[in-house]
Amino acid sequence: MTDQANTPVAKKLFIKTYGCQMNVYDSQRMAEAMGAEGYVLTEDQSEADMVLLNTCHIREKAAEKLYSDLGRLKPLKAEKPDLKIGVAGCVAQAEGEEIIRRMPVVDLVVGPQTYHRLPAMVRGEAPKILTDFPEEDKFDHLPARRATRRAPAAFLTVQEGCDKFCAFCVVPYTRGSEVSRPVERIMREARDLVERGVREITLLGQNVNGWHGAGEDGREWGFGRLIRALGDLDGLDRIRYTTSHPNDMADDLISAHRDVPQLMPYLHLPVQSGSDRILKAMNRKHTAETYLRLIDRIRDARPDIMLTSDFIVGFPGETDEDHQATLDLVAKVNFGTAFSFKYSPRPGTPAYERAEVDSAVADQRLQDLQALLTRQQKAAQEGMVGRTLGVLFEKPGRNEGQMIGKSDYLHSVFVDAPEAQVGDLVQVRIVGSASNSLQGELAA
Ligand code: 5AD
Ligand code: SF4
Repeated sequence: MTDQANTPVAKKLFIKTYGCQMNVYDSQRMAEAMGAEGYVLTEDQSEADMVLLNTCHIREKAAEKLYSDLGRLKPLKAEKPDLKIGVAGCVAQAEGEEIIRRMPVVDLVVGPQTYHRLPAMVRGEAPKILTDFPEEDKFDHLPARRATRRAPAAFLTVQEGCDKFCAFCVVPYTRGSEVSRPVERIMREARDLVERGVREITLLGQNVNGWHGAGEDGREWGFGRLIRALGDLDGLDRIRYTTSHPNDMADDLISAHRDVPQLMPYLHLPVQSGSDRILKAMNRKHTAETYLRLIDRIRDARPDIMLTSDFIVGFPGETDEDHQATLDLVAKVNFGTAFSFKYSPRPGTPAYERAEVDSAVADQRLQDLQALLTRQQKAAQEGMVGRTLGVLFEKPGRNEGQMIGKSDYLHSVFVDAPEAQVGDLVQVRIVGSASNSLQGELAA
């Protein structure tokens, strides 16, 4: 007989990730932690031995999605009583045991700061609900990232949590206060990713540009200095970061956009509103004018930078004039793309009790804003036609010989490149623009 008879059958783990890129990163780390326990990932929920839902709490709809998905898991659990169902992420943090009370199919609930204990929870060696903010750093307790080859673009969390307390936002409560990971851990993880074929790293944090720490030279480093250090890593061709607060755009970070060639000309800088009255009510601690002046300075440093942002319409107290001020700001900045949301009241946040804007009015404002942002996005994309840009190939396209990659500006680009491989970073002349992607040709 072969040894196969002795090899334990791997258990299968299905992970569904909701929400932001930080959750995508956390899901990867949880998969790695469970990998050390003999679990392999599956894309097919029906064959899973464990289902993990990594949740988002930012807007009500995102949180409600969890409960409808859990409802849909009931028949699977009835069929497979050994199936383990776990809830991770920010809804887990915010609602804790309420989740198990409402949905008894759930076996364990783990917050974003405690998921290094997930394997122990699954083994029954830790409580079923873990949502504290432990002193220890979860990253110290997670297995080293597996020595397998990786996709050419990866996320790396460098900062977590938020001390800004915008009046609408749950993040300071679900992710806790701002914590920066130490330089040597970040550099080690970055080097390790590069050794495994990664050429582009997106640094993640809820307030990533608020990152700071003791540097390799013994001095206090800010985020710009960290980016410079990463720029010196051989084999790391592209650096991105998200998401940032305008008040943490230090001079050294702005000048890094001029000085560090690997830092891509793309910046996501949420402003939320263009009305000073609303910005004050949101506790944003900046004005429309200071944001616009900041944008000028960033564009002085890197004239070809593409800017993107987040907006909330219908924040309590928002008038037509306030909304117009947002449209005016958008017209002045000219964004490459942006996310806009209708305000969603979140329990526990300062704005929760405030009188809401009429829902139909907010819907209309959202439509107006999105129409303007879509026009700007289309113009930005069409402006790429004729330019030659770097494109990092991430996967083969559907057509024979076709590759799909990301441009410097994060647009998806389709290129006929029969000789090319995933992970190639090539110069591409942009020849066409479709609704959500660009077409390109290999530059001579
Ligand atoms: N309602 C609507 N949008 C929100 N965001 C955060 N909290 C809320 C809320 N309560 C948006 C902000 C933020 C993005 C991640 O989500 O625009 O930048
Ligand atoms: Fe939320 Fe504001 Fe912190 Fe961003 S800066 S995570 S919107 S509280």
